[in-house]
Amino acid sequence: TLGSKARSAGYGLAAFDQIGSTNAEAMSRARDGERGPVWFVTTEQTAGRGRRQRAWIAPRGNLASSILEVMDVSPGVAATLGFAAGLSLERALQKLSIEANLRRAGAGPLRYALKWPNDVMADGQKLAGILLEAEAVAGNRLAVVVGIGTNVIAAPEGTPTPATSLAALGVQIGAEELFAALSDAWVEFHGIWDNGRGFADIRKLWLERAFGLGERVAIQTGAATVEGTFDTIDESGCLIVRTAEGKRAAVTAGEVYFGAA
Ligand code: BTN
Repeated sequence: TLGSKARSAGYGLAAFDQIGSTNAEAMSRARDGERGPVWFVTTEQTAGRGRRQRAWIAPRGNLASSILEVMDVSPGVAATLGFAAGLSLERALQKLSIEANLRRAGAGPLRYALKWPNDVMADGQKLAGILLEAEAVAGNRLAVVVGIGTNVIAAPEGTPTPATSLAALGVQIGAEELFAALSDAWVEFHGIWDNGRGFADIRKLWLERAFGLGERVAIQTGAATVEGTFDTIDESGCLIVRTAEGKRAAVTAGEVYFGAA
């Protein structure tokens, strides 16, 4: 179920035992007139979608969730919601981890970080992914779906970067308590996203938790690879790389690999 803040903020909830894709379900409801904001959630996703046309299958016990909201924003502005989503999940994990970490046998606290554009990392491995989809609906309004997939009990195989799960890390947090905390944190970060100061505050909070700032990075964008040092993200969420020749390159989308030679 939703957290209490999300409930009082008026979010709706559509929960499923099992579904193909919460993102696909959310978008199809938007085409049928649903305006949100509403969460779609399941602990078993059989035909989920990941970034770059990849699949995202969630075995029973993982958390697959999507928020649908129809808004008067440009696709570029909508895309910055992905950073608010990463922050929300990180906040939820931090909140629940304090106690759960104490139960991790002999291990120190988990370190969470946000990897551009919107992965959530735990101890350097991918724990969660976010997929944002947007489509024009009635008039000029945009149906924005923010999908968040978290590896609670299992990590998928064959991902381009090493993946992990809360269970593999010894953290006993269940999908349901995580969802309650996530939906509450979303209300908070969505409010910051929508505070009239543009992307400034979300950008700052995100950079404070950024994975690999100042490190060597290689970004694969289609056929090309951009290499350099991960400098910052700009006002629209682009990743800024300083190349060996001292040039500044802005990357809008791509697969990021850290520790490149
Ligand atoms: C990635 O490739 O890192 C993004 C993965 C996003 C997966 C989530 S799970 C909930 C939502 N529904 C989907 O079909 N995909 C997203």
